[in-house]
Amino acid sequence: MTDTAAIRAIEDEYLLPTYRKFPLALVEGCGSFVTDAAGRRYLDLYGGHAVAITGHCHPKVVAAIREQAGKLLFYSNLVYLEVRARAARALASFAPEGMRSFLCNSGTEANETALKIARRHTGRPGIVAMERSFHGRTLGALSATELPPYREQAGPLVPGTTFVPFGDLAAAGAALGDDTAAVILEPIQSMGGVREAEAGYYRGLRDLCSARGALLVFDEVQTAPARTGAAFYGRHHDVLPDLITTAKGIASGLPCGLVLVAAHVASRVRHGEQGTTFGGGPLACAALAATLEVIVEEDLAGNARRTGDHLRDRLLATPGVREVRGRGLLLGAVLDRKATMIRDTLLDRGIIVSTTEADPSVLRLLPPLTLTPEEADLFVDALRDVLKEGPARER
Ligand SMILES: Cc1ncc(COP(=O)(O)O)c(C=O)c1O
Repeated sequence: MTDTAAIRAIEDEYLLPTYRKFPLALVEGCGSFVTDAAGRRYLDLYGGHAVAITGHCHPKVVAAIREQAGKLLFYSNLVYLEVRARAARALASFAPEGMRSFLCNSGTEANETALKIARRHTGRPGIVAMERSFHGRTLGALSATELPPYREQAGPLVPGTTFVPFGDLAAAGAALGDDTAAVILEPIQSMGGVREAEAGYYRGLRDLCSARGALLVFDEVQTAPARTGAAFYGRHHDVLPDLITTAKGIASGLPCGLVLVAAHVASRVRHGEQGTTFGGGPLACAALAATLEVIVEEDLAGNARRTGDHLRDRLLATPGVREVRGRGLLLGAVLDRKATMIRDTLLDRGIIVSTTEADPSVLRLLPPLTLTPEEADLFVDALRDVLKEGPARER
């Protein structure tokens, strides 16, 4: 099937209409580019929603998945697996020292698990979360999500969450009580408009949680691994959370979620407290181990820093860009106009970027961490033209 219109028509007819999709039907990807059914190439600064961190179809990851698929497609957590042991060891040397891993299938499941561990570990029910947060769409993660378009759809939610403004340490201090199990935050809010707090905020939250016996949870589903220029965000400020969740690109596109658990919590987790059939399956583990190898061998954290800085500098010198938020290769360019129109015009020119409902003026960039400065320039040059000419239309 090579016809874009036919592919779109079939999906639109048979799948639930839960997504507003780009008018694209993709068939291939390579590095920072994807190709549609008509053979047109697109520069992908959206990365399939921050997933393609090693670039589309990195040969090493593809080879590892192919090899594993020919050996053993699946076996559950009731047995030990050579490939899972390899992934576990790779994770242990990649993650903050002493943290142990729980493997699951998605970001929302990782957050559900982290909140459940925090409640069980502390024996407390309360969660402190942030305004403009996004933690996923299952009911527990949604209960800690404040962004209205997501939260407002499925009440009543799990009780016990208090929301405070992101970046306001005094507000967090006032909300943290004797019944608080955890403070959960995205260190850089992505869906919330690409917002990072002041450096001292993260250390302040760490100290508050330690003083009050609550666990600190970093939702790094978008920011880790390596996207912000460090393997995990806490390294920027020398802050170690008790729990870190991630997913997205950790296995370069195979479904995989991860909860990293600090030793003092991990040592108290018992048989049967968590479980999932597919988490830690052989294919995901092969992709995960290969992804971590690529991140280290190709210094993708360093590339995220360097190419991110280059992209930021060029964007800041672009008329029509008011501000650039974020870090590494999670950037939000704040425009002097509505970003959705610019996004659509860029797509017509063969460049995929994202926006966010929380802040209509922000173009959100979540490219592969293999992005080169030359590829970043292709985007900025096109953006410069589009901002000068004015967007063609809004879809
Ligand atoms: C910060 C954050 N947390 C959690 C999630 C949910 O992840 P998933 O869609 O894999 O369930 C997302 C998804 O975009 C996210 O951005």
